[in-house]
Amino acid sequence: MSARVALIGANGHGRWHRRLIASLPDVELVGLADVQPIDPPADAPVFSDHRMLLAETKPDVVVICTPPHTHLPIALDALDAGCDLLLEKPPVTSVAAHRTLVSATTRAGRACQVGFQSLGSLAWARFRSALDPSVTALTAVASWKRDDAYYARSPWAGRRVVDGRPVVDGALVNPLAHAVMQALAAGAATGAGRPRLLEVERYRVRPIEVEDTAFARITFESGLPLLIAVTLAGEDFIPGEISARSPDGRALLEYPTDRLAMGSDATLSEVPGRADLLTNLLAHRADGTPLLVPLESTADFTSVLEALTLPGNPLPHRLDVPGHTIPGINALLRRAADTLSLPSELGITWATRPDRWRLPIL
Ligand SMILES: NC(=O)c1ccc[n+]([C@@H]2O[C@H](COP(=O)([O-])OP(=O)(O)OC[C@H]3O[C@@H](n4cnc5c(N)ncnc54)[C@H](O)[C@@H]3O)[C@@H](O)[C@H]2O)c1
Repeated sequence: MSARVALIGANGHGRWHRRLIASLPDVELVGLADVQPIDPPADAPVFSDHRMLLAETKPDVVVICTPPHTHLPIALDALDAGCDLLLEKPPVTSVAAHRTLVSATTRAGRACQVGFQSLGSLAWARFRSALDPSVTALTAVASWKRDDAYYARSPWAGRRVVDGRPVVDGALVNPLAHAVMQALAAGAATGAGRPRLLEVERYRVRPIEVEDTAFARITFESGLPLLIAVTLAGEDFIPGEISARSPDGRALLEYPTDRLAMGSDATLSEVPGRADLLTNLLAHRADGTPLLVPLESTADFTSVLEALTLPGNPLPHRLDVPGHTIPGINALLRRAADTLSLPSELGITWATRPDRWRLPIL
């Protein structure tokens, strides 16, 4: 029997979901909801209000791909309507919202999968199987470039508040959220416990309210350090690397490309194979296959997100650089990862003092 799937938030990344849904056998797209005109037009019923979509199309599964600050009310409505959820990352914007949604999902007896799709790769499964308590340090490095069009695409891009409502954007919690989630999941897989301390330096080269460059050191309960060094103002492209060091050597995962280097061989090789999260959710509904990214598994990500996006936080430190590229940034990302240090500890002249937070355990 085919599953009735609806999509809420159909432009932007929603187009990727539309293509995926169209490619899956045994999936019927029963409707789409968006507050803006849908482009390209859809060949399924379109609604401007997600509650009308839920009432009229009665989907089994709802994919929610709206801006992060809208996720919680839409997800609660979809659970009330008896749906299972594929909820885009970042799933919610606060620890309280995470608790609310976990409780509502349990109460409704439904499933909530979160859109961290790299966690469905075979490369990740192999990488994770190499993680154990002998790991002495984890790092995550990515160097991307975002152009003017990226920040012009949506009212919430680069913002902390829109129309008086807090929104969530910033390199660590949105464009490079996968690096943070994957690295936190790697920490959990080593048996290091929960992340307890966050020390972070955040920078911006654009007139935005959030960071486009960040260096974050997270310490887990066991003392295991994780150093995350990422930028959207980069030089050469580094897609996203998670690295685990141990006395046996280093395991390196390039998560966007599913390339892996393990043991003594430092060459990255592709490990093809990804389970898409919607197919996994449908298998979970059909036969109880475990979800790849259940909402509960994103608790550590949300506690980091909340610390980073507290309303009272100062704006990230502004760097005035030519062409929105930080000279020498790629070498600095690598040096920070190699030494597990923040720029202020490396004598970088433009570095600021880090912010420090004890992280709540969810
Ligand atoms: N998993 C990934 O790799 C990935 C990649 C990109 C974006 N995302 C996530 O997908 C979500 C959407 O991001 P985006 O970049 O596509 O944003 P966007 O702003 O470009 O698009 C969001 C769409 O949702 C619509 N929308 C807004 N409020 C709505 C509401 N209340 N009801 C119905 N529709 C509504 C907007 O009109 C727009 O069409 C975010 O959570 C983002 O972080 C995930």
